[in-house]
Amino acid sequence: MDNKTKLPPSILFIFGGSGDLANRKLIPALYNLFLDNQLPEQFMVIGVGRTSYTEEVYRDKLLEGINQFSRRKDAVGEKWPEFSKMISYHCMDLNDDSSYVKMAEWVREKGKEWDAKPVSIFYLAVAPQLAPGIAVKLSEQKVCTDPHKTRIVFEKPFGHDWQSAHDLNKLLASMFTEEQIYRIDHYLGKETVQNILAFRFANALFEPVWNNHYIDHVQITAAETVGVEDRGSYYEGSGALRDMVQNHVLQLLCMIAMEPPTSFDSNEIRNKKVDVLNAIRKINPDEVHENAVRGQYGEGWLKGQQVPGYREEKSVGKESATETFVAAKFFVDNWRWKNVPFYIRTGKRLHEKTTLITIQFKEAPHYSFPQEAAETWRPNRLTFSISPQMDIRIRFQAKRPGTEMVLNPVDMVFNYVEAYKEQEPEAYETLLEDVIEANQTLFMRADQVEAAWKVIMPLIEVWSKRSPVDFPNYSPDSWGPEDAEGLIARDGNFWANLPAHKEEKA
Ligand code: BG6
Repeated sequence: MDNKTKLPPSILFIFGGSGDLANRKLIPALYNLFLDNQLPEQFMVIGVGRTSYTEEVYRDKLLEGINQFSRRKDAVGEKWPEFSKMISYHCMDLNDDSSYVKMAEWVREKGKEWDAKPVSIFYLAVAPQLAPGIAVKLSEQKVCTDPHKTRIVFEKPFGHDWQSAHDLNKLLASMFTEEQIYRIDHYLGKETVQNILAFRFANALFEPVWNNHYIDHVQITAAETVGVEDRGSYYEGSGALRDMVQNHVLQLLCMIAMEPPTSFDSNEIRNKKVDVLNAIRKINPDEVHENAVRGQYGEGWLKGQQVPGYREEKSVGKESATETFVAAKFFVDNWRWKNVPFYIRTGKRLHEKTTLITIQFKEAPHYSFPQEAAETWRPNRLTFSISPQMDIRIRFQAKRPGTEMVLNPVDMVFNYVEAYKEQEPEAYETLLEDVIEANQTLFMRADQVEAAWKVIMPLIEVWSKRSPVDFPNYSPDSWGPEDAEGLIARDGNFWANLPAHKEEKA
């Protein structure tokens, strides 16, 4: 679908225009939108940064990023000259008021040229400590005032704990309306994550069993094989709990646990998610050790390569207590989910890069088959593979071919790549288009961010007071510390490590 003519004339200012996020994600995403006719006809990108570049050098740098990181390797060269005309660069001191005044002038001039007041989007792709200061300048210099024509985009982390997120929200609310603020959680832009809503609420089949009568437990795994790479200094102040659980993992949990929305209105959907976050039982400080496990990777081997331990990574303290792995058990205290455990785990340097949600159903209430028919009998399981595999699979029992009645579990699979010709957009493509279109459904509202912080505050507080004595406690290429197995095994369950297609055939 061509969106070019439907979308308002827009100017996107990227603060941190020469940084990693712009280079790896934002510009490749914009270029893909352009190639798919999904950008407004009148559109400008202005990279803003402290380093001085000529326009030409800046554009070349972005093209390198596209060649290296874009999902699309075709047609890059052909259309680039046309797209690159929309890009310019503005070197500025972020503390200098006059630079912001110039920005406003720029927008006015473009408006005259285009004969329409453009939408101005200010994307803060900068270190988190710089974002509030820029927001204040944008407000003070009246660059971001019109609630319908100006938007401001924040990357995570949004705050460092509940209090700082709350303070930041208060500051922003004193300058902007909530409708102007877009807090990014890139997981929400993933095609497979959005499809959870379609799966749950566009089909009548699953809703009747989507509750504690039929579901035994839910598992969410967000595993990575990479270490902290060159982000040691950021990660030291963050750790897996703040980096992954507060945002991505809890948002996945919300998608699974939310009540059906009455409409697709962005606030309605976000209300339903906030309800889930508010219903998550806050772990009692005395019970944190029973319900949560933290880990840190040591040195070792991963896929044939020797890799350093976390404490040996660049900008990481030699005695760092920062966790690179978290597993936890949560309960959602409402009618639908009473007593259904939600197990989550996430970590770096694990055995496989995989994001997976598993809905484990209860056992069949009565088993009428002869004992020997069912040696490999397993309860039903529904698995959403979010990435890098993208599929939805349902495990059920089937009769094995043969004269005997022997059962074994098989999978019914919907695979995105096989089902559709189109390549799915990257999360940032969807999210950037939504900002231009002023659709906030996939963005975190102020109360949503704060409610998510509240869920993990007991872990933050207890862990910050008690230094881990066993770090590093897991090897690269493993599934994390042994205690994470214990966390789920105590309940008679086990982690569903791999999607069924990689499991041994029954
Ligand atoms: C980011 C985290 O938000 O998500 C990173 O800061 C993490 O530490 C990344 O590696 C994972 O995203 P994805 O899309 O690769 O699963």
